[in-house]
Amino acid sequence: MQKQSQWKTSTGFILASAGSAIGLGAMWKFPYMAGIYGGGAFLFMFLLFTLIVGLPLLIMEFAIGKMGRTYTTKIYEKLTNKKWLNIIGWNGNLAVFILFGFYSVIGGWIVIYLAHVFMQILGFEQGPLGHIQFEQVIGNPWITIVGQGVFILLTMIIVMFGVESGLEKASKFMMPLLFIFLIIIVAKSLSLDGAMSGLKFLLQPRTEDISMDGVLFALGQSFFTLSLGTTGMITYASYASKEMTIKTSALSIVLMNILVSVLAGLAIFPAIGAFGYEPTEGPGLLFKVLPQVFDEMAFGTGFYFIFLILFLFAALTSSISLLELNVSNFTKNDNSKRTKVAFIASILVFIISIPATLSFSSLSSIQFAAGTIFDNMDFLVSNILMPLGALGTTLVTGYLLDKQALRTYFGPDRFKLFAPWYYLVKFVLPVVIIVVFIVQLI
Ligand code: PFF
Repeated sequence: MQKQSQWKTSTGFILASAGSAIGLGAMWKFPYMAGIYGGGAFLFMFLLFTLIVGLPLLIMEFAIGKMGRTYTTKIYEKLTNKKWLNIIGWNGNLAVFILFGFYSVIGGWIVIYLAHVFMQILGFEQGPLGHIQFEQVIGNPWITIVGQGVFILLTMIIVMFGVESGLEKASKFMMPLLFIFLIIIVAKSLSLDGAMSGLKFLLQPRTEDISMDGVLFALGQSFFTLSLGTTGMITYASYASKEMTIKTSALSIVLMNILVSVLAGLAIFPAIGAFGYEPTEGPGLLFKVLPQVFDEMAFGTGFYFIFLILFLFAALTSSISLLELNVSNFTKNDNSKRTKVAFIASILVFIISIPATLSFSSLSSIQFAAGTIFDNMDFLVSNILMPLGALGTTLVTGYLLDKQALRTYFGPDRFKLFAPWYYLVKFVLPVVIIVVFIVQLI
């Protein structure tokens, strides 16, 4: 999105930021994390953190963006006159750079599955969709590298030519279509024999399943899905028009995100029960289970193809916000440098995405700290850099900005809960983030 071409309406802004938020986090990561960290217990903690921590932080990021109206490696200085605080912007820049590196791996898997299903439609591949063996897909390093290369290339082209506004228009019908598809999958999944055990696993919180790791990852998940702490949302809000309604926008994005996460869970867990998978399958969960659900449907191949296109679209509207953040910071909003910076950043992301993808094949034996190279990149971003970025911004908001000035940015939709929100951001959330952070390091 070019600085000059602001979103004209609140709806435009909501669509763009919902596009950044709703992506692989809700549809791919949420089910696999819930599968590992106790199903219902994880869902419960995720909902709690999203509403109590995520929502106020998103409101905060929107307010900062609207107030500062510049790129995020400058915005902190502009708002506080303290140059060193721009480090929060740089932290976000680093976070999205690494994030794009591993995000593109999963984006690449979607591209590869799309290619397989397309071959099937053309008659070059036979058999049920379930024949696309996940292990074979991800086990071939060259194919996965090509897949993620295509994903990065698509993102780069969109950002280079600044055609995000076209994408925003497309999301007006792509997003509702994605909802409809998810509902169809949920209905099919729930109708399978043996669906109840998976459903119970997702919806019934069992206290014995609550673990410290589960708590940490549930918090990390709410940061990840709402794109918090990377300053990505600050960047989007800095492009928004004065009429943008902070509170309504944030609330709608949070609710849509919760809805998509829950629908993804409802689509997958009943099918896990029915097809005899383990919930702890890890990152491949969605890719293993969904083809089998579509195999059970009439016109399943065609439906799966459309679903994959919608899924890819949702992933791309998130990845463009990742690249956009780097582009806006390195071009300093000078659009003549946009093409060059988008190109260089994409090449660098492609390079760091290679070890991430090889974590599922030739480098899978390299395990340390959080697991494989891929797991460590994810952990570093979701559990360290994003919370650190959010912590920095809460402290700036609570202790360095003028409270009354801040209030005026809430604009036409007067924020009745301003005072409780402000005290939450100033006193409670920094403590929550610091405590979780320390526990995690221990
Ligand atoms: N929220 C996105 C998702 O859930 O897929 C990921 C993301 C996008 C995180 C943009 C951070 C960001 F700045």
